[in-house]
Amino acid sequence: MKSIAFFNNKGGVSKTTTALNVAYILGQVYKRKVLVVDCDGQQNASRFLADNISEIGLESVLTDYTISPESALSETRYDNINVLTSTSEMNRCTEKFQQLDDTEIINNLTKIIRFWEEKYDYVLLDLPPALNSLTEAIISITDGVIVPVELGTFAIQGIAKVTDTITKLNTAFIGCVITKYDRKNKADEELKKLLENNLGDKIFNTAIPYSNIIRNSMNYKLTAYEYMHWLNPAKKFVELTEEIIRKVG
Ligand SMILES: Nc1ncnc2c1ncn2[C@@H]1O[C@H](COP(=O)(O)OP(=O)(O)OP(=O)(O)O)[C@@H](O)[C@H]1O
Ligand SMILES: [Mg+2]
Repeated sequence: MKSIAFFNNKGGVSKTTTALNVAYILGQVYKRKVLVVDCDGQQNASRFLADNISEIGLESVLTDYTISPESALSETRYDNINVLTSTSEMNRCTEKFQQLDDTEIINNLTKIIRFWEEKYDYVLLDLPPALNSLTEAIISITDGVIVPVELGTFAIQGIAKVTDTITKLNTAFIGCVITKYDRKNKADEELKKLLENNLGDKIFNTAIPYSNIIRNSMNYKLTAYEYMHWLNPAKKFVELTEEIIRKVG
């Protein structure tokens, strides 16, 4: 089993969209067993995937040792994909989590990834746009982190902070994936080159295009592949997933 966090402390860069589309390709195209862990109180991944959002969310699993991780587990309409849902209380979880002692912290974190070792091939964690003790603790127990990035000078300047944090936490930085890429925009092309020079093999070859197919599909609660699998955006998510498999096994 491999656990991968999708993280960038910048908001709206396509963390959730990327995690959900990759989960779909892994589960439905490659027939791997996938667990998506929604670590964000916005509940976007939960709402997209879950057949049933339990009142007991990930925040309870993370802060109360008596709560079993199965309490937050939901089936989805996809055979090979399950989801650990959060509730909006997840937004207030960090403070409570900080007050736990070290043993409780380790035990509770075990429940969201290691507990599922035998059941899933991939655990994909959708993180909120926040860098705090909770997101750091979650990142530290994953096998690696993928950083979705939208091109723009400020966004690129922020990447060093994100990659430094990942390294400080002793977790593998799998790579940055450029999202919402507009290849017709010269500025995007130049920033992409700059990133490639800076990051070397830590940038995925596949860039996800800016596309209304991706935006609309999410609004219809569909992945790009389900919505229009014959078009480029869907194919890019397949390519990206293939790269992820090559990189992490
Ligand atoms: N490639 C794309 N092309 C067009 N729109 C996109 C693309 N990727 C994501 N979006 C849209 O951008 C918005 C933000 O995407 P998403 O919610 O995945 O970002 P996020 O990083 O998870 O945000 P947050 O930081 O709030 O969790 C959504 O409306 C989504 O539909
Ligand atoms: Mg999100």
